[in-house]
Amino acid sequence: MSQYRIALMPGDGIGLDVMEAAQQVLDVLKLDAEYVRADIGWEFWCREGNPLPSRTVDILKSCTCALFGAITSKPKEEADRELAPDLKGKGFFYRSPIVHLRQLFDLYVALRPCKSYPGNPLNYREDIHLVVFRENTEGLYSGIEFWPIPDEVRSVLEKHAVQMRVFKNIPSEEMAIGLRVITRKGGQRIIRAAFEYARKFGYPKVTLVEKPNVLRETSGLMIQEGKRVASQFSDIKLETTNIDAQMMWLLKNPRDYGVMVTSNLFGDILSDLASQLVGGLGFACSGNLGERFAVFEPVHGSAPKYAGFYKANPMAMLLAVKMMLDWLGEKEKAEALESAISTVIAEGRVRTYDMGGRNSTLEMARAVAERI
Ligand code: NAI
Ligand code: MG
Repeated sequence: MSQYRIALMPGDGIGLDVMEAAQQVLDVLKLDAEYVRADIGWEFWCREGNPLPSRTVDILKSCTCALFGAITSKPKEEADRELAPDLKGKGFFYRSPIVHLRQLFDLYVALRPCKSYPGNPLNYREDIHLVVFRENTEGLYSGIEFWPIPDEVRSVLEKHAVQMRVFKNIPSEEMAIGLRVITRKGGQRIIRAAFEYARKFGYPKVTLVEKPNVLRETSGLMIQEGKRVASQFSDIKLETTNIDAQMMWLLKNPRDYGVMVTSNLFGDILSDLASQLVGGLGFACSGNLGERFAVFEPVHGSAPKYAGFYKANPMAMLLAVKMMLDWLGEKEKAEALESAISTVIAEGRVRTYDMGGRNSTLEMARAVAERI
């Protein structure tokens, strides 16, 4: 039996291209692993009414961790239209399989490292080395939304929230609401993960990014938990900032930041900006981490216009593989892969279109594989 069992979920679009690139590199790394392919994505929604089939969930339950490519998600009306005719009207509804996975396996940390590798023509500045910890299971992405608002919900809100007065003349059909759910447990564990990371890698501070002056209760709870966790890490400073101002500061002085932590939506936005500082979607990778299971992925989506053309930059995917190796404790292999990635970027001979080159996804992956 192999030491690890790793699920490979290419998804669709360029997810397939970059997964092929990852496999080229995995072949050379020779992990003691068995790889199992698993279905996910648009095709399975259309054919089966479920973009995350239960057989995939079963495979994942038998695995150490998973690598995920990318999937296509479309708005409600299109999703309904593309569903197989015999499934229409049977109560199937589209739900993002990656969001579903995060909840199903309680993958509460979205870890996004952003590093400017020397020689990358897409770097905004050199010497940027940031990590964003984004809460991955609650916040504004809890999925608790109403449109129209049921009468019962409305009357409870009117009873308990004076601010509802402002909307009193708006009919329920003309109003949508979503809940920003922050739990003490959710806030605490993401902030703790950030502090533990800071301690492990020697960062002097953790920046907690929220908006407590406006979101008084939800951000308020995050800040309270931040202080509580920080009191247990006397060697690391807690810095709190507001999301809006933070976006400006990050662009202005990216080198002032190291470990940043925030709730779900803010983290989604913050980490996209952070990624852009170090080369954009072709370099942005993410780990969805729980206590016992993890899914690693590039941040980009399925980029339909490039699907199957092998144009996509595989570095984001290869950096996700590197994160996976770190998570598995395969330190030497992780370092070997990162050093190969870094060498290929620095040499600048093999580059995909986004870096101004003409090489394909697989040529870039081969260049990395050859330097391992
Ligand atoms: P996208 O990330 O797929 O692509 C946006 C643009 O970024 C592309 O057209 C391309 O110009 C560039 N790009 C993306 N990845 C690249 C790479 N590896 N190398 C070079 N350039 C790259 O986002 P878009 O177009 O908004 O969404 C397309 C589909 O992907 C949608 O259905 C969306 O819902 C889905 N999506 C899925 C995600 C996931 O699987 N985790 C994340 C984001 C979007
Ligand atoms: Mg995003």
